[in-house]
Amino acid sequence: MKQYNVAVVGASGAVGEEILRILEEIDFPLKTLVPLASSRSAGNTVAFNGEDITIKELTETVFAEEHIEIALFSAGGSVSAKFAPCAAEAGAVVIDNTSHFRMDETIPLVVPEVNPEDIAKWRQRGIIANPNCSTIQMVQALKPLDTAYDLIRVDVSTYQATSGAGKTAMEELVTQMQDFFAFKLDTSKHNSFPHQIALNVIPQIDLFTDNGYTKEEMKMVNETCKILHKEVEVSATCVRVPTLRGHAESLTLTFDAAVSADEARELLRHAPNIIVVDDPKESLYPMPAACVDQNETFVGRLRNDVYRDNVLHLWVVADNLRVGAATNAVRIAQKWIEMENETQ
Ligand SMILES: NC(=O)c1ccc[n+]([C@@H]2O[C@H](COP(=O)([O-])OP(=O)(O)OC[C@H]3O[C@@H](n4cnc5c(N)ncnc54)[C@H](OP(=O)(O)O)[C@@H]3O)[C@@H](O)[C@H]2O)c1
Repeated sequence: MKQYNVAVVGASGAVGEEILRILEEIDFPLKTLVPLASSRSAGNTVAFNGEDITIKELTETVFAEEHIEIALFSAGGSVSAKFAPCAAEAGAVVIDNTSHFRMDETIPLVVPEVNPEDIAKWRQRGIIANPNCSTIQMVQALKPLDTAYDLIRVDVSTYQATSGAGKTAMEELVTQMQDFFAFKLDTSKHNSFPHQIALNVIPQIDLFTDNGYTKEEMKMVNETCKILHKEVEVSATCVRVPTLRGHAESLTLTFDAAVSADEARELLRHAPNIIVVDDPKESLYPMPAACVDQNETFVGRLRNDVYRDNVLHLWVVADNLRVGAATNAVRIAQKWIEMENETQ
């Protein structure tokens, strides 16, 4: 089987580190791994399969020099805007974790359990976009239910962990908690979030747009329609909570047809990479602390609406660094390899 030269751009970051861990864990056809970051981390090493591999500086020419065939980008939108086209021009398929290319019509936006067929459009620009972390876990749960009952509307509130904003944001929560226990928490000191995050809940993720929703909320609106290939109404309220890892979402779904919670639970039990945890009498339901390091999306609290037979409520939790970023990117790469091998 062919093996590939793979670059991980942003290898020293929260998502990049997780990509390396997943590539170690699975049977990925890897020839050479090239970790890339800015000049700040270049020269440092990452541990991979028992070896210390030196991080190289990201440059416009590194992809051609290293004969990169697959480039996994998670170093921020402006970095992808500048360097992803260089990687594609050098012949690599780019799988981009940032929001930069997601809504570009010429670039596929893919969750392999939902719209794997869209990967075939990669040739247009050489780039495949990875959706927002909150969107990925949500559409994985929506897809089987949409197929069965025809989804019309989604009302979602998220409970998003600090790691969604990167490594320094996680550190900010930990530092603030330490300061709190040392009786020296200064509530005016915050960099990663618009307010103190320790012992707080912030109903703002990213900047507000003119319509009163944040950019994060509008990502959930626009990306869901692009991935599901239909105009679903989506209303999102995205909230940052003081956890380190794992995003939770409360969903209210409106369908064209009547829906039974028992039947929906069975459909989700058979959906790819979904695990149903739903035994309220035993206090069993998905929680962020139980999803860390997992590659599946956890679903529970399924119940019919009290008033309407076409409305269903549920609770969805996944590790944002894995399912919401690294796992999805690696699954896209695996699917891309499978499709490339089929066409040869
Ligand atoms: N965290 C999540 O849950 C999540 C989910 C989906 C998508 N994403 C997206 O993935 C990207 C990275 O997120 P993260 O959470 O991993 O952030 P992070 O922990 O802050 O890591 C950022 C990474 O990007 C590198 N980088 C920054 N500027 C660079 C430059 N000019 N050239 C080369 N490398 C550069 C950093 O390298 P240095 O060490 O050299 O600074 C570091 O490796 C973001 O665009 C984010 O929106 C994140």
